[in-house]
Amino acid sequence: MNIKKAREDTPCENIYFNHASTSIPPIPVIEASEDYYRMAMRYGATSKKAEELTAIRYNAAKQKMAEFINADQEEIMFLPNGTVGIHIVAQGMQWKEGQNIILDSMSFISNTVPWIQAAKTYGLEIRWIPSKLPGILDIQNMENLIDKNTALICVTHAANSLGVLQDIEKIGEIASKYQIPYCVDAAGSLGAVSLDVEKIKCDFLTASGRKYLRGPSGTGVLYVKKEKIVQLNGWVAAWNSGVWDCNKNDFSFYDDIQRFNYGEKNYPGIFGIAKAVEYIDEIGGIFEIENRIIELMEYLFNKLKEIKEIEIIGPQDVFCRRGTMGLTMNKKTCGEIADYLNHNGVGMMGHHFFCPGVCRLFGIEGTARISLHYWNTEEEIDQLIILLSQIV
Ligand SMILES: Cc1ncc(COP(=O)(O)O)c(C=O)c1O
Repeated sequence: MNIKKAREDTPCENIYFNHASTSIPPIPVIEASEDYYRMAMRYGATSKKAEELTAIRYNAAKQKMAEFINADQEEIMFLPNGTVGIHIVAQGMQWKEGQNIILDSMSFISNTVPWIQAAKTYGLEIRWIPSKLPGILDIQNMENLIDKNTALICVTHAANSLGVLQDIEKIGEIASKYQIPYCVDAAGSLGAVSLDVEKIKCDFLTASGRKYLRGPSGTGVLYVKKEKIVQLNGWVAAWNSGVWDCNKNDFSFYDDIQRFNYGEKNYPGIFGIAKAVEYIDEIGGIFEIENRIIELMEYLFNKLKEIKEIEIIGPQDVFCRRGTMGLTMNKKTCGEIADYLNHNGVGMMGHHFFCPGVCRLFGIEGTARISLHYWNTEEEIDQLIILLSQIV
């Protein structure tokens, strides 16, 4: 892995351990976004030349993202964030009153509230997949929740406060055995771990661009399996999401992925997110990224375990995570830990992270979250450990 290049491309002056919230795009990603404006300035944004170039780049961006998750480009929609993708599925399913949806009890608010809203609106029942120590979904018990009225299963790959990767392939096997539509929130893992929608057997996958993918802010992606596209209602009636018959004053959504358009696209963001995917290959590929993250996590865990006042929340081994972990201390709240570290030049957060299921499982108010990425260094971890040792 080309760490030297990664560091040169990310001239960050602070120690940054908050990638589960928002990472930092490398310079080539920022340049890819800028390129759009330069091109628009050169030719005029709506000139034929600019529109042609934009269309070519847009299709290439979809292709890039599709290849990255082993999908077809006709199954990819770029969105403003990950939440909107979940909302599109939650509000778009053709629900029938009395159906139930099976949800991950450890999810972040964005993968909980849209379903609660849908349940209220359409008369659905929510069934929560129980979690068990040391922080994994109880998949065996999930299977017991399924019945003939189960209309969807949705899980979060890595809860943002805990960072543990859940077995989304196993869940996908169960969903497919019962032929239940399956949605995965990969906001906390895309870019840190290789994801393959065929292997996962999911129908929908959503993620943010600004987290481990290192894309621009205000970007996200939604994958919808081809045969499921028309089964999801469109969400925004816009000039690019369907056909308006102005004589009859009628509008109908397109039958393909374009039905999820929502008006003008964020082209600078889309070109940036596509570059972020390309950049992964430029510095060694997603498997190298995974290995580097594991290496750094192992280094961090070994150091943390030497400080007896610190408790690592969740599994004590690093292999079930890709970059994110939470810790607590007896004498300091997670907010106090975060204040101290932030004050001393370390970007991280202490919070409940809107994951009440995680807090309940461990009986905690929140965690001090350390969320590292491949371009962090052992020296930065050493500095973190020195600071943590000062406040235990
Ligand atoms: C696990 C998880 N899912 C979904 C989201 C929502 O993503 P976005 O902020 O891109 O809407 C987040 C954001 O923090 C998250 O951590």
